Amino acid sequence: MKFLILHGPNLNLLGVREPGVYGSKTLADINSSLEELAAVLGCELSIFQSNGEGALVDAIQAAALDCRGILINPAAYTHTSIAIRDALSAVGLPCVEVHLSNIHRREEFRHTSLVVPIAVGQICGFGHDSYLLGLRALYNHVKNR
Ligand code: DQA
Repeated sequence: MKFLILHGPNLNLLGVREPGVYGSKTLADINSSLEELAAVLGCELSIFQSNGEGALVDAIQAAALDCRGILINPAAYTHTSIAIRDALSAVGLPCVEVHLSNIHRREEFRHTSLVVPIAVGQICGFGHDSYLLGLRALYNHVKNR
């Protein structure tokens, strides 16, 4: 069972980017925690980060070929990208949206997600644990389908 893990714009800067908001772990730290969890669950991951909307759309489309679900932190595109939402709808794979910060406690423009209405669910506010909780939730959802 393989899952696509997608990280959106500016998440490559984790560790140095606003650590008070996003924590001190780097993206590499998060990815290795995800790989450890995947080994425990017995699933495989394909992990991709891009600052570009088009590259994220391409990765979502490609996931249709060999993935059973998508774990995505669309970052700022959460609040703006119809293209990412449409790509997720088009491939029809179960998708879980995650955020390090609690977007509902922050600026009003972060309260809206264009992705969550077509996702299985959203996990936010738990720092890097949001990703681990998200992977477990996605795995259980797909396994119990
Ligand atoms: C984020 C929240 C978004 O609002 C923001 O644009 C990000 C990171 C998070 O993980 O908390 O880049 O997705």
